[in-house]
Amino acid sequence: MMPAGSSEQPVAVRLTVNGRAHLLEVSAGETLLGMLRDRLGLTGSKEACVEGECGACTVLVDGGPAASCILAAGSMNGRTVHTVEGLAGAGELTSLQQAFVNHAAVQCGYCTPGVLIVLTALLAEVPQPTEDEVRRALAGNICRCTGYQQIVEAALDAATAVSS
Ligand code: FES
Ligand code: FES
Repeated sequence: MMPAGSSEQPVAVRLTVNGRAHLLEVSAGETLLGMLRDRLGLTGSKEACVEGECGACTVLVDGGPAASCILAAGSMNGRTVHTVEGLAGAGELTSLQQAFVNHAAVQCGYCTPGVLIVLTALLAEVPQPTEDEVRRALAGNICRCTGYQQIVEAALDAATAVSS
C-alpha cells in the first residue's frame, strides 16, 4: 500500500488553461505537456527533445514562457497557462501570427507554437524590441527549417503593426 502523502499518489490540480478552469487528478511523472496534449486535447504544443532544450513545447505559465515537457503537472495547482491555441479567438490571428503568414515564417511548423509563445511574451514586455532582443528571446527555440530570418522579420513587423 502506498504511504499517505506519497509523491506516487495522484494529486488534484486546479488550473486555468486558455481562460478555462480545470480540475484534474494527475499522477507522479505526468508532465504539463502530457496533460495539455493527452488530457485536454491541446496538441499545439509539440513534444520533441523532452529535456527542456528545444522550445517546441513552450507555453506561458503565469505569463512567462516555460518548457512544459519538464514541468510536473502536479506543480500546476493555481497556475494560469496559455498555449498557442489560446493566443487568438477562434478563426482569428494575432498580429504576430498574421506577420508569420505574411513573411512565410513557417515551414514544417514544428517549432512554430513555441516560437509564437516566446515572441508573444517578448512583445508584451518589450513592445518595440530590437533585432538583437528578438534573437535573444529565440535563443531557446530550435528551428531547423527557416534559418530564423523570416521569424525575426515577422516579429519586428508585428511590433511595428501594434505600435502604429
Ligand atoms: Fe520541451 Fe524540447 S520538447 S523543450
Ligand atoms: Fe520547421 Fe521551424 S519551421 S523547425
